Amino acid sequence: MSSKGVFADVCTRELELCGVGEGQTVAVLSAGDERLEYADAFMSAAGRLGATPYNVRLPEASAASLDGGGGVGATPLTNNRPAVETLKRADLLVDLVFMLFSKEQLEIQEAGTRILLCIEPFENLVRLFPTADQRRRVEASAKLLEKASTFRFTNRAGTDVTYQLGQYPVLMEYGFTDQPGRWDHWPAGFLLTGGADDGVNGRVVVDRGDIITIPFMRYVQDPMEFTIGSGRIQDISGGFDAEMLRDYMASFDDDKAYGVAHIGWGCNEKSRWSQLGLEKENRGLHMESMACYGNVLFSTGPNQELGGTNDTQCHIDMPMRNCSVFLDEEPVLIDGEFVIDDLKAERNSFMPAPVR
Ligand SMILES: [Fe+2]
Repeated sequence: MSSKGVFADVCTRELELCGVGEGQTVAVLSAGDERLEYADAFMSAAGRLGATPYNVRLPEASAASLDGGGGVGATPLTNNRPAVETLKRADLLVDLVFMLFSKEQLEIQEAGTRILLCIEPFENLVRLFPTADQRRRVEASAKLLEKASTFRFTNRAGTDVTYQLGQYPVLMEYGFTDQPGRWDHWPAGFLLTGGADDGVNGRVVVDRGDIITIPFMRYVQDPMEFTIGSGRIQDISGGFDAEMLRDYMASFDDDKAYGVAHIGWGCNEKSRWSQLGLEKENRGLHMESMACYGNVLFSTGPNQELGGTNDTQCHIDMPMRNCSVFLDEEPVLIDGEFVIDDLKAERNSFMPAPVR
């Protein structure tokens, strides 16, 4: 972990990107003794920028918080009306708890409070720090996605699935937020939308080496094939990974768990695919995998963050490598490489020269 001063320095740069300054209020939401050093760093940073910080600290995290691995949507804020009302009065809320997919988060955003989620390890906050160029590429990606009617993606393992677009908005995550009511996540660097409720059809084969972030934080060993019809997962076949996932999903005893959620691609050229393999413990959401430059993020379960009605607590995120993406049948990615100049970034792919 960083020294306090260094952490506060990085948070100051982040809050500057978020437009924090004189006369603003910055609320920091934490739970129990989790991430107290984050709360201190953000409050110190807000103070340096002339803003008024405060910390809303709730009793210990609910069993359904992500660290518990039990699902999303139920948070320590659930049923805590005084805390919700207090947070609605802030200009910026720094969420150290993970409120995404909760009704409380939507209510706070509707009050005009912008929200920055921050739960990743300090090293990742620094290494994947957002840039203006990343925002530009995420916004350029969003423009393409917004005007498309279909999103089709394929991979060499057999994926070929088409999402009918238009029912849901495109959400961008570029790592900071300076607009009222807007949510973002530090670190990030990707974008997403959803297919029409009954408008996703085809099959997705999550290949060996792809990742299940939420909930397992592991690389897939045996390909998993999802059969999707009219926006619903009808079957998941494969080996051990498919068996694990089927068992996990069945544990929610919820028909809505089998909906198809968001779809999009990653733009963060600083992310490394191998990083998850280095980590000894599951921390945060592992945005590094989800935002990886050129990946496709395939996801199942809730779609409330897009304005949909699926509020299941069973959410699965699966970053997939080497996919091809077509918007209205025009290529955006071929085998994991962007083919549109505006979306390209230099990625670090250093390999030593062969020894002769
Ligand atoms: Fe997700």
